[in-house]
Order: sequence, then C-alpha cells, then structure tokens
Amino acid sequence: MPRAARQPDAPPPTRPRAGPPSRSRSQPRRDAALARRLEAWFRANRRDLPWRPSDPDAPRDPYRTLVSELMLQQTQAARVAERFGGFIARFPDVVALADADEQDVLALWSGLGYYRRARLLHAAARAVVEDHAARVPDEPEALRRLPGVGRYTAGAVASLAFGVRTPIVDANVARVLLRVEGRDTPPDDPETQKWIWQRSAALVERAASPSVFNEALMELGATVCTPRAPRCGSCPIKGQCHASAEGLQNHIPAPKARTTRRELFCDVARVEDARGRLLVERRTGGGMWDGLWQAPTLERDDRHSSPAEVRAAGVFEGAHQSGEFTHQTTHRVVRFRVWTGTARAGATHPRGEWKSRRAVEGLALSSPQRRILLGG
Ligand code: ADE
Repeated sequence: MPRAARQPDAPPPTRPRAGPPSRSRSQPRRDAALARRLEAWFRANRRDLPWRPSDPDAPRDPYRTLVSELMLQQTQAARVAERFGGFIARFPDVVALADADEQDVLALWSGLGYYRRARLLHAAARAVVEDHAARVPDEPEALRRLPGVGRYTAGAVASLAFGVRTPIVDANVARVLLRVEGRDTPPDDPETQKWIWQRSAALVERAASPSVFNEALMELGATVCTPRAPRCGSCPIKGQCHASAEGLQNHIPAPKARTTRRELFCDVARVEDARGRLLVERRTGGGMWDGLWQAPTLERDDRHSSPAEVRAAGVFEGAHQSGEFTHQTTHRVVRFRVWTGTARAGATHPRGEWKSRRAVEGLALSSPQRRILLGG
C-alpha cells in the first residue's frame, strides 16, 4: 500500500525510541559488562589530575591518596588541583603532616573551604603515625577509625591505593547508579542509600581492577553523567542506562527540596597603616571559619552595620565603602560589605595585629577574606 504523503503542517514523525535496556540478562553478567566498559572508558578518557599517576594501573601512594580524597570531599577536582601540589610540597609525607603546626596546615588549605576537614586530616596523620607506625592502613575498617574518614573515603583509599575490592558511594556515584537503573527515589533516603551501596558493591565485585573501576565511576559522574545537562551522547554505558532510554536523565535523581539558607551580614574593615601593613585578627569562638584570620569584621544576622557603627569600631581615619559581594556556604548566604581606609594614628584594635602583605599571604584565610585583603 502506498504511504500517505506527510501533510506540510503535520508533526514530524516520532522516531521509535530504543526500548529500555534488557533486565533479562543475568545481573552478574550485566554488571560485568558495565564494569568492563567503564574501566576501558576511564583508561582512555581520564583527566590528568596531580594526584593521579600517569598510568591508571600504577600503584598509588596511600598518603597522597588520603590527602586528595579528603580534599575532594565537597570540593571540585579543578579547585583541588590548584592546591594539592603546594600542600604535598610542604607536607611530603604523613610524618611531616603529623609534625606540622595547625596554622600552617590551615594556611596551605586556604581556598579549599570546609576547614574542619584540614583539622581532621591533620589529626588523621597523627593517628597514622601514632597507631599505625606511620603507614596508612589498607583495610576499610581501620581507615574508618581515622578522624575525618567516613565510609566513602575509607573505600576510596582502600581501593585506589591498595586495590581492595570494596565499594564507594559519593554524590557522583549515587547519581550514576540511580540513572543507570532508572530509579527515581530520593538519593538521601536510607533505603535508597542502602540500595546504592549494594549496587556499587556488586559492580566492583565484577571489575577487573577495583581501583580503576571505582575511579571510573566517580569520573563518569564528574565529567559525563553530570547533575545538569548530562552528556549521554559521550557515555560509555548509555546502552545499559534506563534513565537515558526513557528520557529521564534530567529527572533522576529527584531534586532535593530547596532549603532556605540564613543570611549573615559582614562589614569588613580593610585598614592599612602608613607602612602599608594590614590589620588582621583571628576568629575564635567556634563556628564558621573558626581559627582563620580576617580583617576586623562586624557581623549581624538582621542587617548590615551602619556607617556610624563601622566608624565606631575606631580603626579608620577616613573610611569609605569600597565593595560588596555575596559568598554562599552550605548553610548561609554571607553578604560582605567592604570598608577601606587608612589607620587612625596609633589605632589599636582589641584583637588586631598589623601584618605586612607578605605575612598576610601566608596566613590561613577564608576565600572571601583572602579576596578582601589581597584582592583576586
Ligand atoms: N572525587 C572524589 N575522588 C575523586 C577522584 N579520585 N577522582 C575524581 N573525582 C573524585
């Protein structure tokens, strides 16, 4: 029968979508195929990052792996790549880190945020020296007893540095596995978490190299199976992916309910004395950025401090507002207003110290305070 000519304004014919990947193949065989594909893809496409040896199958230094995995918790690889080399140059092994002064560790951590991790890493280095004869343990259970090392980091260090066949799950891995299986339950739900860990364990069981496979899974989540606009066209396991087959890749994982972050208003006095020194103080009292240095800062929850309140802090000769910016943390929106001026003759500040620009460059500073004090 002749086919009817398509009407000019008729909708374009829809292409039949490839059906969802078969679930009938036995799960272990399907997992083995997935693992093989991911490992091959990773060997050919991995990013060159400073904590990775040039050969994906080469042994990895456990200390460097511990440092990089702690840095990579909640921080993008590109940012960690900027800081990792400097940190390792200063603390080349676990003994050097264990012996370091905490302020030096924090200073080398500057810009990575979540400074609690730096303190935990420092404590972990001390525990490795004291309890494990300065050798990073290879068992996930022993790793988990180190400060700052949770189930994910223990699995990452054990598998990447020691080749232990143990699973890892971080946000990237969770997203990949939920999409591959077309599961749209919220990733943080305890049942879902249990399921994701089981899937990750079943897959690494089938891998040729647990180290290559685990890092491949993370890498796929970081570079291809991204939270927004995933690049399914470049994905080595597209053919096995239920979300992609059903066009659900932008709906899985289910988005988190938006939480409103509290505001914090910071008015910062950037004061220079006649010799070009900067006035800085150390934060105390726990809370955000505890122990880091800053230009004297007035903080309020409800509004910015008034010009009169800023002047009443008594450090300026002539103060003018020189900039404003917003900094987001996990829990807060911090609104910075910067006041610049020269020091009143003989100006003192209850907790302030005058330091040269050089000295300030070497201090542990949060990234907004670094921007205010040193620019850039
Ligand atoms: N995120 C956490 N660890 C990682 C790694 N080793 N490679 C890439 N991204 C990561």
